[in-house]
Amino acid sequence: MTSVTRCVFGDLPGGGAVETFCLQSDFVKAEIISFGCIITRLETKDRDGNFSDIVLGFDDLKGYINKHPYFGAVVGRVANRIAKGKFTVDGQNYLLPINNGPNSLHGGLKGFDKVLWTPEVLENGVRFSYTSADGEEGYPGELRVWVTYTLSGSELSVHYKAQTSVTTPINVTNHSYFNLAGQGAENIYDHEISIDAEHYLPVDDTMIPTGEVATVQGTCFDLRKPVNLGNQMGKLQINGYDHNFCLSVTQKPQHCARVYHKPSGRVLSVCTTQPGVQFYTANFLDGSLKGKGGAVYPKHSALCLETQAWPDAVNKPQFPNTLLHPGEEYNQTTLFNFSLQ
Ligand code: GLA
Repeated sequence: MTSVTRCVFGDLPGGGAVETFCLQSDFVKAEIISFGCIITRLETKDRDGNFSDIVLGFDDLKGYINKHPYFGAVVGRVANRIAKGKFTVDGQNYLLPINNGPNSLHGGLKGFDKVLWTPEVLENGVRFSYTSADGEEGYPGELRVWVTYTLSGSELSVHYKAQTSVTTPINVTNHSYFNLAGQGAENIYDHEISIDAEHYLPVDDTMIPTGEVATVQGTCFDLRKPVNLGNQMGKLQINGYDHNFCLSVTQKPQHCARVYHKPSGRVLSVCTTQPGVQFYTANFLDGSLKGKGGAVYPKHSALCLETQAWPDAVNKPQFPNTLLHPGEEYNQTTLFNFSLQ
């Protein structure tokens, strides 16, 4: 049984009430707000039966309105990067706001994470809808989007649906930052991870995929067997992980990643229909944000598993398609399952 309750979270400066929707089962308590469809709290049990909040975030709306690294948010219209903020569809050139080095990141200056969505309470969850106007943040076509969160026992499901009036690229994900020790814990070095991917996408120095689909074999990207993140990240030549791992495209959600935190016993398993997952070890956190309960969030204090389309796919015809045409429907599902070991 899942109970769903709603209450006020805060008021937007320009007007508009933001509500919190609390989804609760015997195993999981999730709080999601109508601003950015943000998961603000996610409590799961450790092996002694004690609940802890395992996602990073803020205590109040102000934290989420200010610039922040997409804590818990739904990201779109196109998550991750589009090179130089440029693409061409049907012979028409489009220009997006540049907000990350020379590139456009996570939907632009006011992406899906920064808008108020319309909620609808469901029996076991909440559905949010939003209409992104033609030309919003430079993207073509009016796009209607629905994000549905449902909780069933120990599984939180996120379903994304969209329809467009003009052909547009689309790539929607959730950008939760997990620390299975409980948010506020210093790092994720005591977490173990595995990702079921044989290939990953190498990137250039502006974080745009080079176009090569590289084998993980013999590299630090081979996470097919579980590795301890402390050991593994100590070996890296890079700052941490911030890479797309390539998955096979499926109709039904397929297992793609597992995270295990031995001290608490918590396990997070992720299944998805999406063709990729961006594994990001919070390399850009620097302890300067004031998080929930006064927590500070240093570098590597969380990890994200952003199930998504491949970055810059709109400019790379060899990558799985991200164009949505009028009359078609975009449908993607990601499942976050919480268990104990
Ligand atoms: C994604 C990107 C990262 C970073 C974060 C947000 O994970 O791949 O490079 O931009 O979002 O800070």
